[in-house]
Amino acid sequence: MEDLIASYENVKNRELIVDAVNKDQRLLFVTHTLTESMERQLDFVIAVILKRYGHEHLQSTLYSCLKEIVVNATKANAKEAYFREQNLDISNEDDYRRGMADLKGAMTEEWIEEYGTRARDMGLDVTVRYYHNGDGMRIEVFSTQMKAAEDRRIREKLSQGMQYDDLVAFYMANADQTEGEGIGLVMILLLLKAEHINPHLFRIGVVDGQTLSRLEVPFNGQFVSVRGADPAGYRR
Ligand SMILES: Nc1ncnc2c1ncn2[C@@H]1O[C@H](COP(=O)(O)OP(=O)(O)O)[C@@H](O)[C@H]1O
Ligand SMILES: [Mg+2]
Repeated sequence: MEDLIASYENVKNRELIVDAVNKDQRLLFVTHTLTESMERQLDFVIAVILKRYGHEHLQSTLYSCLKEIVVNATKANAKEAYFREQNLDISNEDDYRRGMADLKGAMTEEWIEEYGTRARDMGLDVTVRYYHNGDGMRIEVFSTQMKAAEDRRIREKLSQGMQYDDLVAFYMANADQTEGEGIGLVMILLLLKAEHINPHLFRIGVVDGQTLSRLEVPFNGQFVSVRGADPAGYRR
């Protein structure tokens, strides 16, 4: 299978996308900030894939999840660019703490756009890959390798998300601690549960020196996760 390399130049070519999906091609996008046109594009690709296999009802869930994943990925790359620019070693815990303290409250949309552009200039990409067939689809988003502190936050958020069934219950139980903290990852798990998609099919890990955020979506009982038949099992 050939990848369709849809980068900024041809990202607006909708015919090309429809054609690629119908020819069973994987799709690959590269981005640095989540611009409005990129948002529409991510939405469109999901729509084309879901339509092909008759699962249009998953549109808003998958789009909300993907948008959150891509925003997190662009933020991670922007942070990496900022740390490099400040000559801080993001993998050193003291430097990480110092850099994050400076950034506190500074990470507005404009900031992410500014540092997303610098990330691009440094060669830091966010890549989004779509795989699909009649049994299900898989979306993979790669970004700069997560740091120990981020890994901890991710594990904590995902385990919190596993414990709740709706956002209100989560919020009520965590209102104090979550002040000023993200609920994006928790939201993803809750949205998946609401569609009866096993939340273990959403994973974040490190692959080949990059952070991989992966979402698998079964369309039928034949679907086999890349993690094997039992994604919630004990194997890592
Ligand atoms: N792709 C990623 N790379 C590095 N860290 C990430 C990534 N995605 C999520 N994280 C970490 O997980 C935390 C929680 O994410 P989330 O629940 O979306 O909240 P928020 O984005 O508002 O911080 C982030 O603050 C970040 O530390
Ligand atoms: Mg987030």
